[in-house]
Amino acid sequence: MDDLFSSPPPDDPAARMARLGKELERHNRLYYTEAQPEIPDSEYDRLFRELEDLEAAHPEFADPNSPTRRVGGAPLDGFKSRQHLVPMLSIDDVFPLSEEERDEIEKRTKVRPSAFKQVEDFFARLQKNLGHEAVPVTVEPKIDGVAVTLVYRDGQLAYAATRGDGITGDDVSANVRTIQSLPLTLAGDTPSLLEVRGEVFMPNQAFAQLNGERDEAGLPAFANPRNATAGTLKMLDPKVVASRPLDILAHGLGAHEGVRFETEDDFHSHLDAWGIPHNAPIWHANSIDGVLAAIHELDEQRHALPYQTDGAVIKVASFAERTSLGATSRAPRWAAAFKYP
Ligand code: IVH
Repeated sequence: MDDLFSSPPPDDPAARMARLGKELERHNRLYYTEAQPEIPDSEYDRLFRELEDLEAAHPEFADPNSPTRRVGGAPLDGFKSRQHLVPMLSIDDVFPLSEEERDEIEKRTKVRPSAFKQVEDFFARLQKNLGHEAVPVTVEPKIDGVAVTLVYRDGQLAYAATRGDGITGDDVSANVRTIQSLPLTLAGDTPSLLEVRGEVFMPNQAFAQLNGERDEAGLPAFANPRNATAGTLKMLDPKVVASRPLDILAHGLGAHEGVRFETEDDFHSHLDAWGIPHNAPIWHANSIDGVLAAIHELDEQRHALPYQTDGAVIKVASFAERTSLGATSRAPRWAAAFKYP
């Protein structure tokens, strides 16, 4: 451990502020991401207030990623625009076929297709384009939230932006900084540039509580957690955003420099080391039977997850194979989203 509690504050306020910021961020990670706090809440609050006081006295040294920003800063006039470093693409949806659709295809082709024909076609295209039978893929929940991109430079959150039209989005950094589970400073070895895509969502329980409170206050209820999340991310007062318990899970990669990833698992190990929460549960398969089994298991488990899901995202595991498959202007060829009926 560390002498942060016992030693008197050093004379240099900038150094003390930097140290408090780093230490508070570490305790934040221990508490929210690892569920293993090392200090009691009262101790955390004391350090937090010391940092707040120092920032008030020396605003010139205040870090934009200070843990104090998590409670929300001053209201904004509007959102700055951010051009994405790499376009934020969509995913091609694949649907189960209805009985009527299967009847119709059977009439035309004399062969009755399975209900999962579109997934089978997707997997067959991967096999054909990659030129081999066994294609390692992952299957994970499609989170029904709001997509954001997070840009870290030298381990510091530089900004967070919404998808917008896929090319340009709104800078919602002040609101995203209020998400307690998200590191504002990455742990461990950090690359010069890292852009991570993820889904912001309001956990089901928090959504129910928020709607209950709105009802009591005579305010209209949000229709669903996705709307509540979208409405909250667009608010101009980060203090109100901080009072709404948003969460985030990373699921994709954008621009990056100074780091490379072999596979989805390798990407996840790096996210773990940096303290960035990522999507789970995840299944691994390398055949269409394995993919269909994962889709079924996820369907059985997804209602117990703390967020809303509307599908299963199937992704080619190898980053090199993703590159060789490429993308259309709309969506990558290496991923598909199976939509549950
Ligand atoms: S992967 C190229 N994984 O769904 C896109 N996206 O309909 C790679 N989404 O833009 C993204 N859960 O915002 C991925 N597990 C997941 C997801 C997920 C939700 C969102 C994402 C994406 C949209 C496409």
